[in-house]
Order: sequence, then C-alpha cells, then structure tokens
Amino acid sequence: MKKFFRKKDYSSHVGKFVPRLGVIDLTALGIGAIIGAGIFVITGKAAATLAGPGVIISFLIGAVAIGISALVYAELSSAFPMSGSAYSYTYMALGEGLAWVVGWELLLEYGIATAAVATGWSGYFRRFIEEQFHWIIPKALSGSFNPGAGTYVDICALIAVLLIFALLTIGIKESSIVNSVIVAIKLVVLGLFIVYGLKHVKMENLHPFLPFGWDGVWKATSLIVFAYLGFDAVSTVSEETKDPTKTVPLGLVLSLGISTVLYIVVAVVLCSMMPYDKLDVPDALAFAMYQRGEPFIGSLIALGAVITITSVMMVMGIGFTRIVYALARDGLLFKTLGEIHPKYKTPYKASILGGGFLCIMAGLVPLGILAELINIGTLFAYFMVGIAVIVVRKNQKSKPSFQVPFAKFLLPLNLLLLVFIMAGLPGATWLRFGVWTMVGLIVYALYGRKYSAINRHDSDPMPL
Ligand code: ALA
Repeated sequence: MKKFFRKKDYSSHVGKFVPRLGVIDLTALGIGAIIGAGIFVITGKAAATLAGPGVIISFLIGAVAIGISALVYAELSSAFPMSGSAYSYTYMALGEGLAWVVGWELLLEYGIATAAVATGWSGYFRRFIEEQFHWIIPKALSGSFNPGAGTYVDICALIAVLLIFALLTIGIKESSIVNSVIVAIKLVVLGLFIVYGLKHVKMENLHPFLPFGWDGVWKATSLIVFAYLGFDAVSTVSEETKDPTKTVPLGLVLSLGISTVLYIVVAVVLCSMMPYDKLDVPDALAFAMYQRGEPFIGSLIALGAVITITSVMMVMGIGFTRIVYALARDGLLFKTLGEIHPKYKTPYKASILGGGFLCIMAGLVPLGILAELINIGTLFAYFMVGIAVIVVRKNQKSKPSFQVPFAKFLLPLNLLLLVFIMAGLPGATWLRFGVWTMVGLIVYALYGRKYSAINRHDSDPMPL
C-alpha cells in the first residue's frame, strides 16, 4: 500500500506529552467511557421490547464482536504508539478518502452519543429528584417529541448537553483523579445492584427465555452493542502513556473485559428480578429496586447513574470536539471549526456549534433512535479498522508487541460479526446512515479533497 509506506513521521508529535499514565489509569479511562447509558437504560428497553431475558445472549454476542475489535485496536496501538483512533489507523492503512469517511462516522459516534447518553441521564435524574425532593417535571417536558404520548421535549437532557458543551468550551475537563472517583462510583453502584438484586431473583422471570425468538436476540444485540462503545478512548492517549506498546493493549483489554463481566451479571440479575415486559422504563435498574421494596438502594443507584453518566457525556463531548478539531486541522473540514480560543485554549467553535445542534437532538429524539444511529456509524468504523489491520499486517515487516491471537480465525470472524450486528438494525437507521455518509462524501468531494493539508503537503495530518 503506497499510502501505508508513505506514512508520516510522527516523531515530532511524540514527546509533546509527558508519559505519565499506567495500566490502572488507562483501565479507569476505558471504564469511564464504556459504562454509561447502555447498561443503565438500554438493557431494560432491549429486554422489554426486543429479546426478553434473551438479552443476556445479546450481551454475550456483543462482547465477542466488540472484544475482537478491542484486540484489533490493541494491535494497531502497539504497532503505532501514537495517539490513535479509527481515523488515524484507517488513514495510514487505507488512505485519506476512506479515513475521511471513518472520521465522518466518528463525528456521528461521539456527537450523537453525547445526546443519547444525555437522554439516559435525564431518566435517572428525574427519578432521583422525584424520589428525594418530590419535584416532578411536567410530562410535556420529560420525553422526546411525541405528541401522541403527550411529550414534546426532554428538557433535562437538553440542558445537560448545553451545560456539558459550555464546560468544554471554557476548557473544564475531568481530571484523572475525578475520573477514577467516578469509575469507583460506577463499580460500587453496579456492585450494589448485583448484591441487592440477587436477594430478589425469581427464576420464573427467566421463562419464557426467548419470547421474541432468535430474531429478537439479534435485534437486541444490534441495540445493546451501544453499551460496549467507547473503549477506543483508551487508544487516544497513547502519547501520554508509559510504555504504550504494552500498556495500551492491556488497558483496552482490561477495561472492556471488566465492563463485559459486569454487563452480563447485571443483565442476568435484572431479568431474573422483574418480568421482562415491565422493563421499558428510562431507569430500569433503579426502577427494579423500587419495585422490589429497596427504595434506598434504588435512590443510590439513581444518584450513582446520574454521576457516572455525566462522565460519559463529558468523554463523548471531548471526543467530538477532538475529532472536529483534527479533521479541520487536516484540512478535511472547514478550518475555522478547528480554531482554538485564545483564552480558554479549546476548539470553541466546534463546541458551540456541536453543542447547539446536539442539545436539540437530545431534547427531541428518542434514545433508541439515537443509539441505533451511533451503533451503525461506530460499527462501520470498527469494520474499517478491522480491514486496516489486515492491510497493515500484509505490509509491515516487523511484528508489533501485541498481536491479535488466532488472527486467521478471529479477524474474519470480527468482520462477519460486525456486519451481522449492523444488519440487525432497522431499515430507517440504514437510511439515516446512508444520508449521513452521502453528505460526508459530498463534503469531501467539494471541500476536503481540495483543501486537505495532506494533499497540499504543508502540514502533517495529526493523529487523534
Ligand atoms: N458505552 C457508552 C454507554 O453505554 C456509550 O453510555
């Protein structure tokens, strides 16, 4: 691959950061980005409307597919120990055009994810203030636009996105200490749910196990895969990591591994605690506790979910502004979007524009639609990275320190599973994805191709 061998020398970028992060920091960073609205909200919805208790199998299938993707990221991060993402990996292996498409899909992943996670946050927040302070948000303001159901805007989700982007604009980020505290809260909250939930397990709730058949399990897999997204955050900080070729793969695998085990246990407990058809609520984990006479634990879970989902919003929001910034700096998106604020040192235009658009999405569009859109865009990006690793393997002479084991079997299986999961998404999601991708191709044809810094040879493409 010509592009591959012409890859830029990133050594000038390496060393700008002081390597200070170790395995525990990276694992915490990964868990911080992974565990969020997916397990807290989507599990209940998927069980109630798509798969019943069979959602447990969906979590297992999702774990295999996304687990192999994490191994692929681990290999690429050990081959290219610079801050990487699907965009930079695809750029190096497959060239600018495909990298642009992947970058464009990542905008969808991180941007819409901020909105989607905010709608999950809103459900738990409303429950918490209702239970603790008896404050009830009027129905019209407590759901996405659905006049038939009497809801017009999810005002809490809208305000949450506005606040997050306001904080990002003035440059407030979670420190790694705050992230570690939040990760500890996540683990404690899910641990509490498991321990108290086990007291209320009723085996009969697991029957029928597949009320919607295997088709339902497949469709639920396509939805709950949302819960696994975000592990790639670990690969974006390689340059700040000690011994990155070993630490990053370990951080990727550990954060996804711990999240996976928790997800599967939580799904088993939730589906055994409550009849599956009662779980289509915005705050299933807290709701199950209230229903089973554990209001104190329910409130703790609601509060914990509010805190922890806030951190996912923050990580996704940062990811979004970083992608806009990198694409703009590479000349693929309008340069002005990458401008850094003189005082706050943040890509403020990306934050303000993105925040403005995404708060409307958070307020009006239901979580299910947002999550499916994110899933399709992200799975497509993982698919491209799955191809990139095969190309890199063909071209690279030296072996990276981490390689996907049983690659002959696992790499094709990864691609197959990703296509299988994408195929389970509804036609309307495919249509939205098609429109988004077409718009991206048009932007590239009319703008990016002409103005990309890479074509003009006047600046390095910056890995994310
Ligand atoms: N995996 C993240 C979540 O579940 C996106 O919120």
